Amino acid sequence: MEVIHTVEWMKQVARQARADGRLTGLVPTMGALHAGHISLIEAARRDASPAIVSIFVNPKQFGPSEDYTKYPRDLEADRQKLEEAGVDFLFAPSVEEMYPTGFRTSVNVEGLADRLEGKIRPGHFRGVATVVLRLLEIVAPRFAYFGRKDAQQARIIRQMATDLALESEIVVCPIVREPDGVALSSRNRYLSPEERKAATVLYRALSRARRTIEEGEREAMRILALVRQELAEEPLASADYAEIIDADSFEPIMRLTRSCLVLLAARFGSTRLIDNMQVEIADSRGGTPSGVICNL
Ligand code: PAJ
Repeated sequence: MEVIHTVEWMKQVARQARADGRLTGLVPTMGALHAGHISLIEAARRDASPAIVSIFVNPKQFGPSEDYTKYPRDLEADRQKLEEAGVDFLFAPSVEEMYPTGFRTSVNVEGLADRLEGKIRPGHFRGVATVVLRLLEIVAPRFAYFGRKDAQQARIIRQMATDLALESEIVVCPIVREPDGVALSSRNRYLSPEERKAATVLYRALSRARRTIEEGEREAMRILALVRQELAEEPLASADYAEIIDADSFEPIMRLTRSCLVLLAARFGSTRLIDNMQVEIADSRGGTPSGVICNL
């Protein structure tokens, strides 16, 4: 695996791969790699070659009181994991490479970026969209991989790719969980053992929503009441939001129809975690339990 630190060299390598007729795959990350990231890399290696992973802790997506300086960074450990995963190129630019002095452009995906996570973290998705567009422009991959774990982020990136007619296809991959249901996240390492145990409440709450939906409940308010009750029963969890939204518009819905998302965010001490479940309802009129698919 070759490690690339400069934008110019990354561009040149990617340009050469395209000229050779190869289908490149990019997995953007902020490092502190775990099995969730590796699942995206496996998907990239199935569809594409070379497989390129970027590691860049993007200052533009952290608020002033967020964890930018203490975000976990261990390039050597990450490099070894990527080597083992069969990655061809690691792109690990410095902040100065990504945002040279005088950099002034930002990308705002209107409407989608100021709800839910965007409301609690103002400017976060502007930072995400800006860095992802810059990475896609540098690498110009045929495929770029993102996790459904960050459902709003994936939706925003898809919208940006459509609006700007980007050449890269955005591929969204399933959530990878620990055996107890906790979604893998680089931030899980901040949790104390008690908080880590408490974090299972997110999966319990989503599972409760799934059971209720499978039993035929379609009223969002009733489902959310049970989800909130489940969250309230965990004293170490402080819920930020629990919402059911249309998977396409990201607007709240009253009644479950077609494709929707149950989204949760909660704090465990100073660590904030998010999780979600996608629900597909085949027949919105009959509401038969057999017509429900919950991706949890
Ligand atoms: P990061 O949190 O490092 O995540 C990189 C990618 O891994 C994202 O697409 C995220 O959704 C995915 N991912 C994280 N946990 C996952 C899990 N448990 N299962 C499946 N996929 C998972 O998200 C970012 O970085 C940044 O915002 C980034 C897109 C790199 C822009 O800076």
